[in-house]
Amino acid sequence: MIARTSDIEKAAGVLRAGGLVALPTETVYGLGADAEDPAAVSRIFQVKGRPPSHPLIVHLGDAQMLDEWVEDVPPTARLLAERFWPGPLTLVLRRGRRVPLEATGGLETVAVRVPDHPVALALLAAFGGGVTAPSANRFGAVSPTTADHVRMELGDAVDFVLDGGPCAVGVESTIVDVTGDTPSILRPGGITREALEEVLRHPLAVPSSSSVRVPGQHPSHYAPRARVVLVEPEGLVSEAQRMREAGHRVGLVLPPASPDAAVPAHAVVRVPGSMTDYARGLYGFLRELDQQGCDVIVASVPAEEGLGLAIANRLRRAAGPRPTG
Ligand code: TXA
Ligand code: MG
Repeated sequence: MIARTSDIEKAAGVLRAGGLVALPTETVYGLGADAEDPAAVSRIFQVKGRPPSHPLIVHLGDAQMLDEWVEDVPPTARLLAERFWPGPLTLVLRRGRRVPLEATGGLETVAVRVPDHPVALALLAAFGGGVTAPSANRFGAVSPTTADHVRMELGDAVDFVLDGGPCAVGVESTIVDVTGDTPSILRPGGITREALEEVLRHPLAVPSSSSVRVPGQHPSHYAPRARVVLVEPEGLVSEAQRMREAGHRVGLVLPPASPDAAVPAHAVVRVPGSMTDYARGLYGFLRELDQQGCDVIVASVPAEEGLGLAIANRLRRAAGPRPTG
């Protein structure tokens, strides 16, 4: 049920009272608190089980508010904000005095964005301030892209859930650090590297977590319960077979054009041919494979261009080593 005006007012009241509101954005659902209320911000970390040193994103209702929340906005930041806000782009800038250190994990920089979702924008307008919100999942888990996912993840730990329907983008915002001499991408996401480069008129470095590296170096994040195993597309079926013979319940993620042969898996997902649809559906199908009882998910990464860069990044992170003990 999509949020009504009365829900927006109620949610704004919860924020004013120091409570937590789950809110839809175009990327994923966020777990929001009044950015200027350190106690409310601290509760976000408790509810998520997130280490307090991991900084949050401050969501603003309007790009005009930027100067109230950050110091020293360089021309590059203005250019990107003007071109991509509201939208799935987060800018890292110098922290303004309004932002408590609780929200930045103690850093002197702050991440800010204006989300492109009517319900989020209505809430931000009704509330008037900044809303600090990480993705509304337990630390390390798959981000929620529907209000039901949020309820499954967080249950009663959140004071109010605003339903804005399924998220249109499906992967988190692209984070660009604009504090240095040249902007750099900290996390690929909903705004593509190509779109940023077109506006900036120079190439941007790809963050190391998505470039080709020794597999298994990254601590797992964006991860379903099932272990994620990444192989080359040609090896998908044989790896699924091997895993099944080893006694696993295998969830197999097949590229769009793969043949319809009998597949040795407990559950099969065929990813859509369009990268937009793939990104939109990614977290939903990872959740679905968990729910179907898979303990291993065998997949390959798409070509790392356009939204494929963010999808590959999330799959690699999901396949990273799990904490033990
Ligand atoms: O699309 C999104 O960005 C979603 C929606 C809810 O807006 N939010 C989101 O938040 O993904 P979260 O907390 O799950 O991820 C925020 C990322 C973290 O990886 C954090 O390290 C980084 O932003 N970040 C936040 N502040 C930062 C800062 N000052 N410097 C560098 N990275 C920062
Ligand atoms: Mg997150």
